[in-house]
Amino acid sequence: MTRQILVTSALPYANGPIHLGHLVEYLQTDFFVRFQRLRGHRVAYVCADDTHGTAIMIRAQKEGRTQEALIEAMGAEHQRDFAAFGVSFDHYGSTHSKANQALANGIWQRLRERGLVVERQVDRLYDPQAGTFLADRFVKGECPRCGVADQYGDSCEKCGATYAATELKHPRSVHSGAVPELRPSQQLFVRLEPLQEFLREWTQRSGALQPEVANYLANYFLDKPLQDWDVSRPAPYFGFPIPDAPGQYWYVWFDAPIGYLGSTQDWCAKTGQSLASWWHAPQCEIVHFLGKDITYFHTLFWPALLHVGGYQLPKRVQIHGFLRVNGEKMSKSRGTFVTAATYLAHCDPSWLRYYYASKLSNKIDDLDFQVAEFVGKVNSDLVGRVVNLASRSARFVEAVGLAAAYPDDGGRFARAAAAGEAIAQAFEACDSREAMRLVMLLADAANEYVDQKQPWTLKKDPARSAELQEVCTVVLNLFRQIVVYLAPVVPELVAKVDALFGVPIRSWADAASPLLGRPIGKFEHMMGRVEEAKVQAMFVPVAAEPEPVVASTPAGARPAGGGGTAVVVDGPEALAKEPLAGQITLDDFQKVDLRVARVVAAETVPEAKKLLRLTLSLGGDQTRNVFAGIKSAYEPSQLVGRLVVMVANLAPRQMKFGLSEGMVIAAGTDGEVFLLSPDAGAKAGQRLH
Ligand code: 2FM
Ligand code: ZN
Repeated sequence: MTRQILVTSALPYANGPIHLGHLVEYLQTDFFVRFQRLRGHRVAYVCADDTHGTAIMIRAQKEGRTQEALIEAMGAEHQRDFAAFGVSFDHYGSTHSKANQALANGIWQRLRERGLVVERQVDRLYDPQAGTFLADRFVKGECPRCGVADQYGDSCEKCGATYAATELKHPRSVHSGAVPELRPSQQLFVRLEPLQEFLREWTQRSGALQPEVANYLANYFLDKPLQDWDVSRPAPYFGFPIPDAPGQYWYVWFDAPIGYLGSTQDWCAKTGQSLASWWHAPQCEIVHFLGKDITYFHTLFWPALLHVGGYQLPKRVQIHGFLRVNGEKMSKSRGTFVTAATYLAHCDPSWLRYYYASKLSNKIDDLDFQVAEFVGKVNSDLVGRVVNLASRSARFVEAVGLAAAYPDDGGRFARAAAAGEAIAQAFEACDSREAMRLVMLLADAANEYVDQKQPWTLKKDPARSAELQEVCTVVLNLFRQIVVYLAPVVPELVAKVDALFGVPIRSWADAASPLLGRPIGKFEHMMGRVEEAKVQAMFVPVAAEPEPVVASTPAGARPAGGGGTAVVVDGPEALAKEPLAGQITLDDFQKVDLRVARVVAAETVPEAKKLLRLTLSLGGDQTRNVFAGIKSAYEPSQLVGRLVVMVANLAPRQMKFGLSEGMVIAAGTDGEVFLLSPDAGAKAGQRLH
């Protein structure tokens, strides 16, 4: 029976690059999707960039581009990375789409009708300099329990305490370094308690969750009343405005999962289908893949929204653990935070696909990337046990092709065909580790046969050419059978095997019958061996990215025009062939138009605590209006006439007080600001290089 399966991976945030940790999930999903397609089922694999929230808003502002331009560029970058790793989405959308907004409006309407929306006033931290309320992850300070510095506003990485952002000692905004203020804010909440019984039933009895996930929810959440979910954020916020609450936006986590629907809707529109044929059709199996950190959102909030919205609930929520590298958390300073692009500069994507497949199971345990193991598995399993089958036999039959009848192989092909069901069950259960183990046993059996028959010895004796053809017919068919079973994992290898045999692998059933009486193509190299040095090359420690918190960038040059990070490129790194994470190329640096400018007027901005309004001359009659956060250190009158250094090609930014048309460069730690000036003789308008 043909099944209809809608599959999703969690939507990656638009504000960061795809890295090896993300790829655990997208590859695990892709193994499942490709497997189901090979079994002949009707599959839709949809995903999208998760685009909303404060991080994008602030970053766009700093980079002087619109939020839309930023998310578009990030979406393109993400899709490029996914394509390079062979992740086979049917549709990749964006949560910032018309379809998503309309769907969010519809679900909101239903929540209102059911009386599940309530309004309350809460005090929230506000960054007066950036002009925005602060999400927990955008405040840092000392842990209220153990006193360790530099902890986020929700939990302490040192002692594990969880707390409200308002409890942090000496809090600072991550955006600007400003001390946050408490400001009252009207917030909208979705009541979950009335849905508690429904959620208990679904999480505990539907079979959609892995048993450990169901138990965890039962023990930690469902044994006490579910708290209301805070779903609104006051302006300014990059997101969708709540239609019946002026000045309020949906919190990014409200419209993010609705993005699964939105992306399906966009795909349906493109392909002439209806959303209902996937999300309202009882026969359609909805399967979500995600990491354990976002369990709560997908097993409580999201089913609640689907239920109230009248959509189908997921048939399965498949949760995986985190990626560790050599036993530790991924870390930029240890060099183990490897982006997809960095990986691709050194290694073959098929290696990672196979390596992850050989480690992933249906459990939510963390997965540990170990260099020696990676090298060993790829070289000995994939190249040594599988690809070598072809390289040890294909050349011998290039001229004569495959035998017309299948020779006696001692029952090997039949046994491997019968093993197909167990391998399929393992893929079905997302236990690719087990699937790979079973496949490698088949490869061992095939290699045993090669060792016994020694085609290279037969080749030396022209009288035994028929026997040579028979042996190679067996080996090549055993090889192809194995490649059918590996097809969900290594599609690039499949393409090469298709070319060798001249018959594409299209279905799991292709493993059940041998190819006979056909020519064999010229054997082309199928997969290289990994050299450990290539793997090590991607783990290069990089200095922690400078954070835009003034207090944590001691003596670092930083722009003073309303926040941002300064970039410093050292000589040796500038010679590197490609930038490491956190670095930029010389070309990137040269995009910044740094100019000498003369301050021709300076005045205070009464409504802003830290800003001065400067009129800067770039020579001739070119002037720029710039708001600079230097009020604490300079009297306006002191500044008039002096030379400063400015970023002249920063896209203008509309601030509350007017348009800022550039940035002035200053050095300094918190409370201290030192404007940079050129040596005597420099002229306004000169470019720095
Ligand atoms: O944790 C994350 O990276 C989120 N962007 C995942 C969103 S998944 C879905 F709900 F949109
Ligand atoms: Zn602590």
